[in-house]
Amino acid sequence: MSVLPMVERDPSLPERVTIFEVGPRDGLQNEAGLVPVDAKVEFIGRLVSAGLPIVEATSFVHPKWVPQLADAAEVVARLPIDGPTPLPVLVPNERGLDRALESGVRHIAIFASATETFAAKNLNSTVEDQFTMFAPVVERALAAGMDVRAYVSMCFGDPWEGAVDPTQVVRVGSRLLEMGATQLSIGDTIGVGTAAHVARLVQGFAGAGVPVDRLAMHFHDTYGQALANALAALRCGITTFDASAGGLGGCPYAESATGNLATEDLVWMLTGLGIEHGVDLEALVSTSRWMAGILGRESPSAVVRALG
Ligand code: HMG
Ligand code: MG
Repeated sequence: MSVLPMVERDPSLPERVTIFEVGPRDGLQNEAGLVPVDAKVEFIGRLVSAGLPIVEATSFVHPKWVPQLADAAEVVARLPIDGPTPLPVLVPNERGLDRALESGVRHIAIFASATETFAAKNLNSTVEDQFTMFAPVVERALAAGMDVRAYVSMCFGDPWEGAVDPTQVVRVGSRLLEMGATQLSIGDTIGVGTAAHVARLVQGFAGAGVPVDRLAMHFHDTYGQALANALAALRCGITTFDASAGGLGGCPYAESATGNLATEDLVWMLTGLGIEHGVDLEALVSTSRWMAGILGRESPSAVVRALG
């Protein structure tokens, strides 16, 4: 494979971007079949070898809620968690944090909802009570020297409540940062966001005193808008993007969620814009093809297909 995008640098855009790979977590949590531990460990290892600077490995959530990741401790036990590449895990509550601490995990992510319905469906909580659940998690994790990322879901639209008020997203996100999270990932869980809406949200956070370098963008590609939204976010100065290898993904508690922005599609666009990302596209595509073979279905990524 030797095809590469035409490169034309846009000097108004950031020079370097960090890709936060979520395929082994957001991708595999939504697969109908169970992926064996060996394959998960190999998947994460291949993503690290392909140059992904952060790879979200799994979730310490309730195994009945997400059976696909019930093997989290087994997977983590076989990962180089003290190595140079951070391998964060999702943690919703203190029970999850205990499991993460037992496994020697160094980086965790809490995940909040901007809407009441999703807080109930995904966390069995309310918007207000989720903060009570997260507060001791963040406090204990920071005291243990862990790094804490926070997600907010349903930041653009919600399948049950419709349009989501940006003020509500900013309110929820700001509280997670005040709690001590180092980075906030803005989730378009069901992929209904559009480009100007992205800019409006980033401006909303800026208006609340949250600088752009504390924000990451987490786009799902349900309506094919993820890449356009990523470009809009780049124009606002965002430099961290969540993506999943091969476009795997979704959320089992939001039926209309499909795969994340495919890492390959993001890498292709960034390369074309002359933005550094450090990822070896060929190694990444071959990893996604291998995983597609294990899952028994073709990758939805346009770049994986085109280079296939
Ligand atoms: P709950 O049923 O309310 O839990 O679930 P509980 O606190 O009432 O506890 C009930 C039992 O579960 C207890 O056991 C606990 O010990 C146990 P018992 O005493 O009855 O024997 N338990 C646990 N066991 C293992 N690990 C745990 C744990 N917690 C309690 N962590 C809970 C509440 C939060 C646990 C549940 O709702 C849950 O696990 N939810 C996770 C759902 C999920 O993982 N969703 C997908 C990730 S979010 C996402 O994909 C969005 C994102 O990508 C961004 C975007 O796209 O927007 C991040
Ligand atoms: Mg997601």
